[in-house]
Amino acid sequence: MDQPTKQQLVESLNQDLRLEFQSIVQYVQHVAVITGPEYTSTVDELKIHLTQELAHACVLAEQVAFLDGKPATTVPDVPVVTDSKGALAADLRLEIEQLERYRVRVQEATDLGLPDVAEALRPLLTETQEHVRDLQSALGQ
Ligand SMILES: [Fe+2]
Ligand SMILES: [Fe+2]
Repeated sequence: MDQPTKQQLVESLNQDLRLEFQSIVQYVQHVAVITGPEYTSTVDELKIHLTQELAHACVLAEQVAFLDGKPATTVPDVPVVTDSKGALAADLRLEIEQLERYRVRVQEATDLGLPDVAEALRPLLTETQEHVRDLQSALGQ
């Protein structure tokens, strides 16, 4: 795969930022609508995710600005879900997509000689890994 330009890295980081906005909107809704005694601890877990997604969005916006880009402000469409399990499955799909993207992004930043950016992104990678595991266990996977 060709090494991206700095401009392409900024565009990818902005899409990462939009996906964090999607996570925030999705988790705000799911925390409110996921019901059932079997999901009480899961909802508590999702509330923790929610605050971490806001921190992730802030880190990404800062990296975009640091690279002379303009941080995105648009939110992708959030899938419609009608049941608790479907909501958690949608959250898991989004977290897996983000995890794959952050793996690529850390490598790209490193390859472009931007160790500070790679370093800033590493906690997002680690926490997204934890979010994937939390959702997998909530879904009994
Ligand atoms: Fe996140
Ligand atoms: Fe997450």
